[in-house]
Amino acid sequence: SPSDPDLVARARAAKEKLGDKVFVLGHHYQRDEVIQFADVTGDSFKLARDAAARPEAEYIVFCGVHFMAESADILTSDDQKVVLPDLAAGCSMADMATAEQVAECWDVLTEAGVAEQVVPVSYMNSSADIKAFTGRHGGTICTSSNAKRALDWAFEQGEKVLFLPDQHLGRNTAVRDMGMTLEDCVLYNPHKPNGGLTPEELRAAKMILWRGHCSVHGRFSLDSVNDVRERIPGVNVLVHPECRHEVVAAADYVGSTEYIIKALEAAPAGSKWAIGTELNLVRRLANRFAAEDKEIVFLDKTVCFCSTMNRIDLPHLVWALESLAEGNLVNRIEVDKETEAFAKLALERMLALP
Ligand code: 13P
Ligand code: SF4
Repeated sequence: SPSDPDLVARARAAKEKLGDKVFVLGHHYQRDEVIQFADVTGDSFKLARDAAARPEAEYIVFCGVHFMAESADILTSDDQKVVLPDLAAGCSMADMATAEQVAECWDVLTEAGVAEQVVPVSYMNSSADIKAFTGRHGGTICTSSNAKRALDWAFEQGEKVLFLPDQHLGRNTAVRDMGMTLEDCVLYNPHKPNGGLTPEELRAAKMILWRGHCSVHGRFSLDSVNDVRERIPGVNVLVHPECRHEVVAAADYVGSTEYIIKALEAAPAGSKWAIGTELNLVRRLANRFAAEDKEIVFLDKTVCFCSTMNRIDLPHLVWALESLAEGNLVNRIEVDKETEAFAKLALERMLALP
């Protein structure tokens, strides 16, 4: 939707008034009306790194979802304040692993006699509590752009990985990039006693995958891929690794949002692409590259926007910026000190990956 000119002017004025005191980060899945005000855009990894590289900004306004704002708070200094323009911008995947469930899982692994061999690797898309659990147990965080390097590192530390909370990123990375088989992976279901697994199954597994998924990417199917190949002969299928294994296996290219953008920048004129990721980004790319004669379509028209990413709209951004400009700190995301210390350990292990 075209942005309201009055709101655009107000956002601009508030940002100008704040000057260097504010730094606005925008994830690639944000709406156009919001992304136009981002000082920097990126995938989850780039935004975590960029948030940490702005010590002079008193306010970091995070246009993204809650776990991203938490990570920014963990990685910035104590006197920097991270603001999420709408507190309801969560992530359904991150909500699929709670601290209690993960603690219970660790008990199950301990009882099966495997905990000592297990290194936790948690996807950025998880709460600060889960990141702290990961840090406490010697593990690392990963994003979709460094999952292979994180797993390489983890398998140098131990024999097994507990991958939280996205089963698809875990499975896709293990099978596509690490030479493992589907049989090397087991699925831990937090809603079943003992995760639905026997001690023997846990002992035989290399990858213990948490049963979480992205509600957006999980909706692309093998039919989506087959249908688009039939409709558009010669199309290149490019998907995010949060998609299901059969979708990733049938795709031509797989990568994070930043990878997707770079692949399209490098694509030759006249090429055709079907993209399996969030719709705001796909639409923006389709518009941007239409002038260069690159045809870009959404992999499956029945899949919708990420509803929580979309919660951050221009009215919320204007409200947050104007409040800050008037000296009212609103919607601060602040992780408690103990959680922060252990979560930071896990995040710093990720930032130090080769
Ligand atoms: P990336 O931008 O790191 O690829 O993450 C995608 C995503 O789903 C964020 O919520
Ligand atoms: Fe979470 Fe998926 Fe939305 Fe990303 S796209 S914020 S993983 S629900």
